[in-house]
Amino acid sequence: MRIVLGVGGGIAAYKVASLLRLFTEAGHDVTVIPTEASTRFVGTATWEALSGNPVSNSVFDDVHLVNHVRLGHEADLVVVAPATADLLAKAATGQAGDLLTNTLLMAHGPVLFAPAMHTEMWQHAATRANVETLRGRGAAVLEPASGRLTGADSGPGRLPEPQAIFDAAMALVQGRSDYQLPLAGRTVTISVGGTREPLDPVRFLGNRSSGKQGVALAVAARNAGATVRLLAAHMEVPAPAGVEVQRVETALELREAALAAAADSDVIIMSAAVADFRPAEVSDTKIKKRDDTADPVITLVRNPDILQELVEKRNASRAGSGQLVVGFAAETGDSQGDVLAYAQAKLQRKGCDLLVVNHVGMDKVFGQDSNAVVILSRAGSEPQEASGTKTEVSEAIIRRISFELNHVSPRA
Ligand code: C5P
Repeated sequence: MRIVLGVGGGIAAYKVASLLRLFTEAGHDVTVIPTEASTRFVGTATWEALSGNPVSNSVFDDVHLVNHVRLGHEADLVVVAPATADLLAKAATGQAGDLLTNTLLMAHGPVLFAPAMHTEMWQHAATRANVETLRGRGAAVLEPASGRLTGADSGPGRLPEPQAIFDAAMALVQGRSDYQLPLAGRTVTISVGGTREPLDPVRFLGNRSSGKQGVALAVAARNAGATVRLLAAHMEVPAPAGVEVQRVETALELREAALAAAADSDVIIMSAAVADFRPAEVSDTKIKKRDDTADPVITLVRNPDILQELVEKRNASRAGSGQLVVGFAAETGDSQGDVLAYAQAKLQRKGCDLLVVNHVGMDKVFGQDSNAVVILSRAGSEPQEASGTKTEVSEAIIRRISFELNHVSPRA
């Protein structure tokens, strides 16, 4: 396929190198047309080297080839990323001051804009009107992703991830012009890692959760267009870019954070390994090893079941009935029953909408890069298996969540 890739003058231009790579590796012939402003962010040499095609942004280069007409005519697809407020305005008003805007006016095939700008620019009435105009004329304009912007602030306005733009472009070519990222406009809260329950200022009861699966889920949800909030207990991996991170230590702290986050979440995924018990007493000072007294005995008390509480709270609120609550279960089978039988019982007991079941052993799942899960649904559909890297498994889980949100009626 012949693709014209227009690059706008925004800081996110650097991410478009990865998008170009996805297009070329899928076998497409890509001509990059950067705006003059964009070349202050990424130079034309990058585009020439990665595309293997000459790059210009002037209607006065290679005039004999009549590029300002030909490129748009011949393109099977035009993708503009990042589509800045300025470019959207120029496209909406039909301006033709450079090679890219000429090409947009001449485009015969589908056109996809992947916007990126500051939240206030995106929400400005002028930009809204320009987006509506472009959509009204049949162009596809993606919702920008939410998350960290160039400065310290965050909100809608991030360029969707290259893979997400690629997927949207392929969907558009297949005739789905209303394609949006599956979780665009949704807020997804994900608890990750393992809680630590203190015994004294230096010791805690912890678990072997690495947080890898939860972080992979956060990336998949972010790439699907969601605003992602991570409630991060102890993790061995860094939090990904573009998600909001709230650190928690104990099950009780996680409970408080999860209940607060639930108020405005479309999805809550409890992937954290939450300690079922915590020491009944936490010593203010380090517990000493002494020869003159008996060795200490640790008494444990039960932690609240956060997942169950989230479901109860959701079910009690009519307004929240669209919320999807997803649990994780790390199970082992025994002589009394197999993994799935235990998991089904847990799903019914906890009442969550989906339960992602891992089969664990000492060497399986925790800290590993690959995984195999079964997704059980309270609504009773067939168990769905997903396996592969934690990234692939996470993408499958997020696809299933998107499907439930977008196609299955309220749950409570
Ligand atoms: O009962 P079990 O710990 O196997 O259940 C696992 C699921 O319940 C996970 O989704 C976990 O995050 C959640 N959980 C919870 N609160 C607890 C224990 C587990 O939300 N106290």
